[in-house]
Amino acid sequence: MSDETISQPVDLLVVDDDAEYRGTVVRRLKRRGYEILEAGDGESALQLLQGRQFDVALLDMVMPGMSGIDLAEQLKILQPECEVVLLTGQGTVENAVRAMKVGAFDFLTKPCPLADLEVILEKAAAQRRLTKENTQLRELLSRSHSTAEMIGESPAMREVYHLIERAGPTDKAILIQGESGTGKELVAKALHRRSLRADKPLVVINCAALAETLLESELFGHEKGSFTGAIAAKPGLFEIADGGTLFIDEIGEMPGSLQPKLLRVLEDGSMRRIGSIKERRVDVRIIAATNRDMTTEVKAGRFREDLFYRINVMSLQLPPLRERVGDIPALVRKFLGPDWRIDPDALQAIERYRWPGNIRQLINAIDRAKILSDDKQIRRKDLPREVTGNVPEPAVAPPPVPPDVNSLAALQRAHILEILQRERGNKARAARVLGVNRRSLYRLLERYAISAEGEAAGSLGKDGVR
Ligand SMILES: Nc1ncnc2c1ncn2[C@@H]1O[C@H](COP(=O)(O)OP(=O)(O)OP(=O)(O)O)[C@@H](O)[C@H]1O
Ligand SMILES: [Mg+2]
Repeated sequence: MSDETISQPVDLLVVDDDAEYRGTVVRRLKRRGYEILEAGDGESALQLLQGRQFDVALLDMVMPGMSGIDLAEQLKILQPECEVVLLTGQGTVENAVRAMKVGAFDFLTKPCPLADLEVILEKAAAQRRLTKENTQLRELLSRSHSTAEMIGESPAMREVYHLIERAGPTDKAILIQGESGTGKELVAKALHRRSLRADKPLVVINCAALAETLLESELFGHEKGSFTGAIAAKPGLFEIADGGTLFIDEIGEMPGSLQPKLLRVLEDGSMRRIGSIKERRVDVRIIAATNRDMTTEVKAGRFREDLFYRINVMSLQLPPLRERVGDIPALVRKFLGPDWRIDPDALQAIERYRWPGNIRQLINAIDRAKILSDDKQIRRKDLPREVTGNVPEPAVAPPPVPPDVNSLAALQRAHILEILQRERGNKARAARVLGVNRRSLYRLLERYAISAEGEAAGSLGKDGVR
């Protein structure tokens, strides 16, 4: 065995003040295939440790300046998984105990046959390989748990999984950005599951779904009688999420008046219920999501810059479906479920479409196709017409209003349609953009015969009114 080279590369650090002995050891081990850096004292060894990760360290116990024991202690702090072998002039029990206490793998008495040294180093290297493999295995297992329901092995999705692994266990605020239906909520859940708060609540609130005053009382709670209708005191979601995670969806829609309050909680965990003077402290991790471009929102003065930085400590960008076409077959298979098949040209149409509504829209299209099909087989004709390319994609500019229908009513109708489509049928958002309340929007939809999804329905007079 003594003439063989080692099977896998091992990064070895050799520290000894005896240059001659060190030289002999290093020469011999290099021939065996070790990658070696050497140092003559503890201080320069520490320098080397800053720049490189070692598998095994061979340290002389007695050196002028920093002793090998002190160095071993530092080393175990900097690189806990590096295995340490100590060399000592005297094989006393006392030295053996000290070596054990710093967590050394083994210790050897000088002078010793180099062959013995090699055997010990190989054992240490094998031990190091084992811990390395264990760590990797653990990471793999926990990933498959926290992101189990997520489909996609494209590089972009792998990057997302990696970020979830890394960022999940920290308590840092995270901003998830991505187009509508790209899986922002799913990622927020995975981050929570991967966090140290996984056994505490994950509370979700959607800023776009609630009017300003309601949003405020949901988030921060209120005291009895603080406003009309506040018949009892109510804790806010920050209190309910205490110890856990609060997922603030569509944070780009948070009204300016609430942003300072949110900033305060993020800064020092303090908040007050509406109508209360009592300061409360909460320990809540914030995960936020948005499909808006937040830098634009900040530039336009709609979102506070300081709040943006607080939320954007780490950010995670979810790729739109069209940028990971390779994931589409797996997604389709998952949403089809067992027993169902799909024609190749139907799948091809799905792969070619640009999916403005991303995965959510894909799920809807497949659900719809399953209803239309009568033999557990999806054909091209079962897919929505915009997917098969028989009608212009809704993502392109809306059709211009023909000149002969330039009445105010027709313009209004076209405008409402455009906004509804842009907001993908979300009436709360469309109403906000249009500057009307939801009830008025419903009245307008009815009047102009527009379905809630933003599709024109029925036949209309040429001025656009039924
Ligand atoms: N990688 C994925 N694998 C499987 N299903 C996914 C994946 N990403 C998202 N989905 C599914 O797609 C749908 C939309 O996801 P989600 O609600 O998380 O998107 P979103 O980005 O929050 O959308 P919106 O902006 O409209 O709120 C959900 O049904 C979700 O389970
Ligand atoms: Mg969402």
